[in-house]
Amino acid sequence: MAVLEILTAPHPVLSASAREVRDDEFGPALKQLLSDMAETMYAAPGVGLAAPQVGDGRRIITVDSSDKENRGKRLYKMVNPTIVERSKETITWGETCLSVPDLEVDVVRANRIRVQWRDESGAKREEWFEEYEAVILQHELDHLAGTVLLDRVSSFRRSRYMKKVKSRVQELVR
Ligand code: NI
Repeated sequence: MAVLEILTAPHPVLSASAREVRDDEFGPALKQLLSDMAETMYAAPGVGLAAPQVGDGRRIITVDSSDKENRGKRLYKMVNPTIVERSKETITWGETCLSVPDLEVDVVRANRIRVQWRDESGAKREEWFEEYEAVILQHELDHLAGTVLLDRVSSFRRSRYMKKVKSRVQELVR
């Protein structure tokens, strides 16, 4: 097990579309990546992580909405997840992202979604998720499409954020 480095925006891997995991990629290395991603997510701490955030451009995510005491109870390791159905009813949540530190954005999402994915062994799974879990999943699926929270704010707010990032970097190299 290993805690991986989480990339922050702007980074090319974060804004690229992730690719499907192929059948021949299931195996020990993929299982290792999934457990490293879960460990990285817990260490952050966070409730969801997408592979591009750790520099792997494939459709892989980990999600766990449980609180600290129940860690692992709602852990999902998803390979090639897709939303196959969504409710018209929406939910608005103030979202944060490990790859976009110090930014919170209200995002309107479907309140219920049905997700199809493959588990770490390659078996096909399908389940409904709602409310907070649906929010997390849609946020992670955004990552697989190359979308981060920063893409959901006004250009004014984005440039103000980028200025802050640049001054932070300058402080670090000073
Ligand atoms: Ni995120």
